[in-house]
Amino acid sequence: MASTITAVSVGLGLSRSSTRKLTQTRNPSSSRLSFCSIKMAVSVEEEKKKKSFTLEKSEEAFSAAKEMMPGGVNSPVRAFKSVGGQPILFDSVKGSHMRDIDGNEYIDYVGSWGPAIIGHADDKVLAALAETMKKGTSFGAPCLLENVLAEMVIKAVPSIEMVRFVNSGTEACMGVLRLARAYTGREKIIKFEGCYHGHADPFLVKAGSGVATLGLPDSPGVPKAATYETLTAPYNDIAAVENLFENNKGDICGIILEPVVGNAGFIPPQPEFISALRRITEENNALLIFDEVMTGFRLSYGGAQEYFGITPDLTTLGKIIGGGLPGIHTLKRLQEPGSYEYLEKITSELVQGIIDAGKKTGHAICGGNISGMFGFFFTEGPVHNFADAKKSDTGKFARFYQGMLREGVYFAPSQFEAGFTSLAHTAEDIQKTIAAAEKVLRQI
Ligand SMILES: Cc1ncc(COP(=O)(O)O)c(C=O)c1O
Repeated sequence: MASTITAVSVGLGLSRSSTRKLTQTRNPSSSRLSFCSIKMAVSVEEEKKKKSFTLEKSEEAFSAAKEMMPGGVNSPVRAFKSVGGQPILFDSVKGSHMRDIDGNEYIDYVGSWGPAIIGHADDKVLAALAETMKKGTSFGAPCLLENVLAEMVIKAVPSIEMVRFVNSGTEACMGVLRLARAYTGREKIIKFEGCYHGHADPFLVKAGSGVATLGLPDSPGVPKAATYETLTAPYNDIAAVENLFENNKGDICGIILEPVVGNAGFIPPQPEFISALRRITEENNALLIFDEVMTGFRLSYGGAQEYFGITPDLTTLGKIIGGGLPGIHTLKRLQEPGSYEYLEKITSELVQGIIDAGKKTGHAICGGNISGMFGFFFTEGPVHNFADAKKSDTGKFARFYQGMLREGVYFAPSQFEAGFTSLAHTAEDIQKTIAAAEKVLRQI
């Protein structure tokens, strides 16, 4: 597939004529990003022979990285700030497993932060990419496969009638905000505490994991004017949303939310929450925007909107529709019968196993999952919003995290991030993870 098709779409659930008027900006799919390639001369075979867990090569490479990149990483949450130790550098991924540059193997529950839902480096995806790359990697012009992917997305996601492909979830959310403002002629937007919608300035208010993980009050460098029109409410708090509409009559273009929060840890909506948002936005002629960058194609093939049966006006997607790279095969694989049932089965077993291990060993852990998205908090719970999530014992999480690494299990390095399973995770992976969790919980 030509690389002019990008990993993220903005799905526009508006009428075709209004959409056409509002999307005259330059197609960003041809923009040139610079990616730096990293060469690491590490012999995997040599490392296979190693028995003990060591991170010597990671430590050395990370020291070098810190000299060249702020914090030594290219995304704050990779920096291990909240779990201690140093980030691990990886050499390869396959199926449900990752291998670091010291030759250690891990069962992976980050899944490249969501895209790897059918497992890493799937053979058919690699073959399709190799075939397509022979035709060139960038056209800067339309190509047929854009139509194929657009049609698949439109068929899959209930609210989407047309799509605009962009390069990242951040761009998708920036675009959707501009569209909502242009369509309604209003500037204020409501977002929820702990929800993350990419790193565009207007959204960097109470934005969940990245900021929470680093313990920053809010993001330095964001001018007040950029967030002046951003109103916030606690997640799952309908009365707070009603108050905001009451106090800002005729000024609010819409509500944007993660229909299931993943960026403050896993927090599902309470049963009536999303339907109330649908009602409130309709009553106020405002738009309901689902940021399905994380939940799209994960909670179900049609995303959270299909799962909950609520149709938003606008949708942003990312992660899975790109599969880390443009990935039509990824979507085909997900369409196979039983995919989501399998994800639900293994993920609920995993979470229940960890909660039970907590009970056996005397640690308060709560958690949950929907399909292949999950999370657990080191607190009694229940966790309904970011304030509840922050009651977690993050020190204990850090000790648990380090112990699990040594047992060969890789979770996201923050208490405030969701985890992900894939179709490549086996029952054995899950059982090993639960056994490792119990072992580590006994030690901390
Ligand atoms: C819900 C949500 N929206 C937007 C984004 C931003 O996406 P990207 O990192 O591709 O810019 C993310 C990234 O994790 C996300 O989880």
